[in-house]
Amino acid sequence: MASAAPHASAAEVLTASPGGPLKGAVRAPGDKSVSHRALILGALATGVTEIDGLLEGDDVLRTAEAMRSFGAGVTQLGDGAWRVEGQGGFCEPSDVVDCGNAGTGVRLIMGAAAGFPITATFTGDGSLRKRPMGRVLDPLAKMGASFMARDGGRLPLTLKGGHLRGLAYRLPMASAQVKSAVLLAGLGAEGGVEVIEPEPTRDHTERMLRAFGAEVVVSDNGPERSIRIKGGQKLTATKVSVPGDPSSAAFPLVAALIVPGSEVTVEGLMLNPLRIGLIETLREMGGDISIDNVRETGGETVGDVTARHSALKGVVVPPERAPSMIDEYPILGVAAAYAVGETIMRGVGEMRVKESDRIALMARGLEACGVDVEEEPEGFIVRGTGKPPRGGAQVETSHDHRIAMSHLVLGLASQEPVSVDEPGMIATSFPGFEAMMRGLGANIS
Ligand code: S3P
Repeated sequence: MASAAPHASAAEVLTASPGGPLKGAVRAPGDKSVSHRALILGALATGVTEIDGLLEGDDVLRTAEAMRSFGAGVTQLGDGAWRVEGQGGFCEPSDVVDCGNAGTGVRLIMGAAAGFPITATFTGDGSLRKRPMGRVLDPLAKMGASFMARDGGRLPLTLKGGHLRGLAYRLPMASAQVKSAVLLAGLGAEGGVEVIEPEPTRDHTERMLRAFGAEVVVSDNGPERSIRIKGGQKLTATKVSVPGDPSSAAFPLVAALIVPGSEVTVEGLMLNPLRIGLIETLREMGGDISIDNVRETGGETVGDVTARHSALKGVVVPPERAPSMIDEYPILGVAAAYAVGETIMRGVGEMRVKESDRIALMARGLEACGVDVEEEPEGFIVRGTGKPPRGGAQVETSHDHRIAMSHLVLGLASQEPVSVDEPGMIATSFPGFEAMMRGLGANIS
């Protein structure tokens, strides 16, 4: 690892072994997407933003540190409770900004920084330095920012911001990160910006911009969505309550579905329709999942989600559902390995440019665990027999927290234990994963 996760476990490998049922109720960790945005918008705003429920994973801690280097006062008040004193803009950092493993962190911060007359150099860990940044740099350059990057638009790169022009931008791919970067840059751009999405992606930036007092106009045109913001808008500090992360909750919920006799409730889960494609898919597979105590908090709907062990069947996942569950395909691949029949997951080429090439890594990992899996350029197919997979492998995770957690969940009901390398990476998004799973009765050590 180029940069060690502060919560990294000292263990070189982590092993999940089949055991008894998982039982209990847990709280989902704070949502990673909302946590990054709360810190960034808090730093851009004028005044004091108070945040509760912030995810204290390495990705988000890197964004907190980055906001300090752009001039905001960022203080931890208690468990998940943070205070951001925004200066109404960014000033120039005196050193390189290291975003660790966080694609969301670096891409949103670059968008936010582009509208100020400053120069900033960004880097990240070995995984982030391989990921494409051109998707954000291209629209920012059209608006008047300039940059110098490694070949292929990779980090480390230096961005020079300033007075930006307005832009109407059609996203070449369904990416909430690119949308958000352009919207944040648009706040200070002359004439503002319009972003057109081919299909709606998570809308946390739009919702939170409104909560910070900005005017955001959203209109739907068939499957397309247009988001417009006027330039010259100032943000005003507010309070943010971070809801539970559906992408993290996916791990204990799928574990409950596949381990016989289990019943697990995850409380306080964000039910934003643009984030819960996995729950819809698992229900179509025959997953016994109920949602109770639905309520509103901090501009998002949350609920308590209970999953019980279920006989699953394979399904065809509609490609248009991909943006609402893009980070959940690895764990869906695990659920599919326990189902009877084929689960076809297509239209997910974006998985190849996440923290790792997740299509390749899932295909390799599942195959090593004795699962029948077929890799396609933009998807994968898992053929389950309805019997527990063999397991019995040590899986290479390539710096990817979700690949690690997915295979550990697989090992909770397979015939033989499953180990993963680099378990410290789990702390990027889910620092309490191991303890939470153990508390539910999982055999992970
Ligand atoms: C995120 C958007 C998604 C997702 C990532 C978080 C966000 O990435 O995979 O984990 O917070 O905007 P893309 O925008 O690249 O699809």
